[in-house]
Amino acid sequence: MWEYTDKVMDHFLHPRNVGEVEDPDGVGEAGSLACGDALKLTFKLDENGRITDAKFKTFGCASAIASSSVLTELIKGKTLEEAMHVTNRDIAEYLGGLPEQKMHCSVMGREALEAAIANYHGQQVVQDVHEGRIVCTCFGVTDKEIERVIRENDLTTVEQVTNYCKAGGGCGGCRGEIEKIVRSIQGEKVREQAVLRPQKGRKLTTIQKIQLIQQTINEQVRPGLRAHGGNIELIDVEGEKVIVAFRGMCAQCKLSEFTMKDVVEAKLQEFVSEELYVEEDKDSVEAGHEHKRINDES
Ligand code: FES
Repeated sequence: MWEYTDKVMDHFLHPRNVGEVEDPDGVGEAGSLACGDALKLTFKLDENGRITDAKFKTFGCASAIASSSVLTELIKGKTLEEAMHVTNRDIAEYLGGLPEQKMHCSVMGREALEAAIANYHGQQVVQDVHEGRIVCTCFGVTDKEIERVIRENDLTTVEQVTNYCKAGGGCGGCRGEIEKIVRSIQGEKVREQAVLRPQKGRKLTTIQKIQLIQQTINEQVRPGLRAHGGNIELIDVEGEKVIVAFRGMCAQCKLSEFTMKDVVEAKLQEFVSEELYVEEDKDSVEAGHEHKRINDES
């Protein structure tokens, strides 16, 4: 269960400005149903060029609805030039904060706003964001967009990038590329973090190994899975074998085998030990099976 502020809950349970403005001056869409969140924003200008009405339609979670609701409140009364300065941070701050794994909802609001303003000006998209090269094919995110969320939100890890724009949250194949972008922008900040990483090749006690596996799953794997409604649970560790179970969307995902090898196993080998291999505990999905569960974090 996510921890939401009272403001998030208020805008989720009582969203403002739901629907579509009649005969709008600007229409913008962001996200996609296939990726789990989608937002359509419409606005109308008055004779002085100020946004006199704004409405939204959103498909998504509580954070997506609350972010969209707040977006409409923030832009009403503004000129388009003023509205262009509304950032995803403004949306999140207005809500008293969002769980980091949900920050992409605030980014989606900002993207829909930019798309709507571009639409008003007769453009299809905002050029500098969408002209870049696609880095994450799973979510269609470009290098420009990744660079932008890193700069605007001072992000220093791949996991944060996933939380803010979903890139890296699917098959994981682009995470190396994302890390390069993070490093190219943040330089020293990333290197400071790297020092904190456990040294590879050192001899770990069984307890240390389990703790490190758990930590790696929590920090390196889970955020990406959660970004699209999934989760992972560490079931057991037997020697070099790590047994996990996928939860939520991941449990039904046809790509779970791929995720297990190319994301989970790769991360555990990178951060804990190259000897580790991962197996999925399919039995644990069925109720009634007894397993020694090391992980009760969810
Ligand atoms: S290509 Fe980015 S997560 Fe698959």
